[in-house]
Amino acid sequence: MAQYDVIIIGAGPGGYVSAIRCAQLGLKTAIVEGRETLGGTCLNVGCIPSKALLHATHMLHEAEHNFADMGLKGKSPSVDWDQMKAYKSDVVGQNTGGIEFLMKKNKIDWLKGWASIPAAGKVKIGDEVHETKNIVIASGSVPSSLPGVDVDNEKGIVIDSTGALDLPKIPKKMAVIGAGVIGLELGSVYARLGSDVTVVEYMDAVCPGMDADVQRTFKRILEKQGLKFVMGAAVSGVETTKTKAKVKYALKKSPDSEEVLDADVVLVATGRKPFAEGLGLDALGVKMTERGQIATNAHWATNVAGIYAIGDVIEGPMLAHKAEDEGMAVAEVIAGKHGHVNYGVIPGVVYTTPEVATVGATEAALKAEGRKIKVGKFMFMGNARAKAVHQGDGFVKIIVDAETDRVLGAAIIGPAAGDMIHELCVAMEFGASAQDIALTCHAHPTYSEAVREAALACGDGAIHS
Ligand code: NAI
Repeated sequence: MAQYDVIIIGAGPGGYVSAIRCAQLGLKTAIVEGRETLGGTCLNVGCIPSKALLHATHMLHEAEHNFADMGLKGKSPSVDWDQMKAYKSDVVGQNTGGIEFLMKKNKIDWLKGWASIPAAGKVKIGDEVHETKNIVIASGSVPSSLPGVDVDNEKGIVIDSTGALDLPKIPKKMAVIGAGVIGLELGSVYARLGSDVTVVEYMDAVCPGMDADVQRTFKRILEKQGLKFVMGAAVSGVETTKTKAKVKYALKKSPDSEEVLDADVVLVATGRKPFAEGLGLDALGVKMTERGQIATNAHWATNVAGIYAIGDVIEGPMLAHKAEDEGMAVAEVIAGKHGHVNYGVIPGVVYTTPEVATVGATEAALKAEGRKIKVGKFMFMGNARAKAVHQGDGFVKIIVDAETDRVLGAAIIGPAAGDMIHELCVAMEFGASAQDIALTCHAHPTYSEAVREAALACGDGAIHS
């Protein structure tokens, strides 16, 4: 049996990226994946299929709401749900196939099956035990439900994000538990498809932890798009009949209240939890955190020599790109180089329309620290390009150190926010000031001009506001 330098467990964005970097650095590498296709949650049942559905339903929204205004007359398209799901599956297939190609191109062995680790240096799949100098656990995460809520994607009444990507029909009435990223992205998809969507959220604002300004604007825009919200509501359980469900919740302001929301389908989007089951970590004595994550040091090493962990299964935001960065960095470490991830500059994006993107510190967190800051804000209403495409709602906000003008954080709600945020990420990586951005020529007419205007607003003032 082959002796590997590295075996990576899990072929999601963390695992497959790590495998490619390991191979590029000359390490003999294998990747273990039990799913039929590579790409993990992200490509198979997460980021990629949801983006396909968001794109298709955004097109529908445009046709229904903005075509006539632009002189495009005619009947609005009708929805062929099975065809939309087929399109989504095709997008997934192209991407997972692409990863398989990349594994072959980089001469990485795909060991098919579910792995366990009988001892450091050994990975077992079925009856076969493979020898390796290093192991990288990149086993990801799974949806976490609530006590009193039984998710059953087969039945299709109480579902998680995986079930929401494959519902047999578009529900008339959908309840979404949790106004986080998944709840708002998939809630948007179904609202655009005509479902009556109500989001029930425990906190008083959507997307907990996000910039408060963005939270307010985001919720207002989503409400305009037809989503309904019940805020400050703790869901205590869901009762189901053969075809319907009742979501039971108590409002925080009257904890003894018992409210009920009827729905055909309930989407549970209350977070995800690390997935390390079946690996045999207990027997190996791998240290875990109180939150069930694999504990690692600054070099992604566990307490057991030769075993590393990255991505959703360790601490930090559960984001594909954070896992990818860790995957590359751990490969560098294993190859004897210096792997590094700047956790202060990891963008977060919600792919609704408009998109929402953030990076770095929030205004509230910096104020709580007592830091002297300055905030530059520019509304997309003042951006010609955004207005031309019916996307004048939203803003760019840049937060800088009041004395040095150094960019500390940014938030964008508006068109292409998820792409534009990277100008600010690069600025932060280079320790740039708002003035550096403001003095950089930005092409006209682009959405990116709004970033420059927000940077100008940190100084002597924006031009178009
Ligand atoms: P989340 O943590 O973003 O949001 C969960 C929401 O559920 C929170 O707002 C929380 O207050 C609420 N909640 C929890 N218990 C509740 C209860 N009993 N009653 C009412 N509300 C309750 O989790 P989500 O949206 O499920 O996403 C899971 C992970 O996947 C996140 O880490 C997210 O970052 C990641 N993800 C990222 C995406 C992106 O980057 N675009 C897309 C999808 C997921």
